[in-house]
Amino acid sequence: MKTSHARTRSMVRKAYGTVARKAVSCCSGSSCCGAPAPAKSEGELGLSCGDPVSFSKIRKGMTVLDLGSGAGKDVFIAAPMAGAKGKVIGVDMTPAMLALARKNAEKFSARTGLKNVEFRKGVIEKLPVKDGEADLIVSNCVINLSPDKPAVFREAFRALKPGGAIVVSDIVLNRELPPALKKHAGLYAACVAGALLRKDYLGAIKAAGFTGVKLLSDRLYSASGTCSDPITDKAGKALAGSASSITVYARRKK
Ligand SMILES: C[S@@+](CC[C@H](N)C(=O)[O-])C[C@H]1O[C@@H](n2cnc3c(N)ncnc32)[C@H](O)[C@@H]1O
Repeated sequence: MKTSHARTRSMVRKAYGTVARKAVSCCSGSSCCGAPAPAKSEGELGLSCGDPVSFSKIRKGMTVLDLGSGAGKDVFIAAPMAGAKGKVIGVDMTPAMLALARKNAEKFSARTGLKNVEFRKGVIEKLPVKDGEADLIVSNCVINLSPDKPAVFREAFRALKPGGAIVVSDIVLNRELPPALKKHAGLYAACVAGALLRKDYLGAIKAAGFTGVKLLSDRLYSASGTCSDPITDKAGKALAGSASSITVYARRKK
């Protein structure tokens, strides 16, 4: 029998598998985070709620890890910054999303000549990386989907070199949701129902051992308008002001 964590991951995997196979938008019958970004280059299927890479000081030679890399949008933005001597590793648990990201990686390499991206299959609660493998960890609208957020931050701490940092964009709640909505699968996949209260989210980062926790951006988030999914749209309107999209920085001490 599946545990409740396994059931949650399976529901999220199904929602994002559908999105990846359609590779067009978050709509089409399954709710998901963020608005699809306009097609620019590889990884155009952006399902994000922030822009962690733009807040990250990525230098040549760094190893960057992206938790829940989706179609690879942030990986492909970070890779030229890390350069040929650096590396960007995306981790995702959804096979169809990984297939899309790997296809995008071929296009990226053909366009840039860079072969410094890699997509690994795995869950962010148990990262497929060695201790201290990364200089920097980014994540964009994913940790709220995890059934065990404290484990994600503990794993991020383990995967970082001492002196390394995380820059994560995510949805947090400004007030508790009504119990019926917390159990709503569509709203969970839409990155709202599974989100932690802001104080608990920041508390989980600190409890994992991180220091220097600071907010880099903070704005109200609405699932409404993300797509024409009637459930997300209706709930989004009812929930106005309940959730925010934040970008947080924290570091692992040297
Ligand atoms: C909202 S999308 C964000 C994708 C990407 N970060 C972006 O900005 O476009 C969430 C992604 O996280 C993945 N994901 C969700 N929960 C996960 C978990 N527990 N472990 C690994 N991947 C997960 C999903 O498969 C999906 O690709």
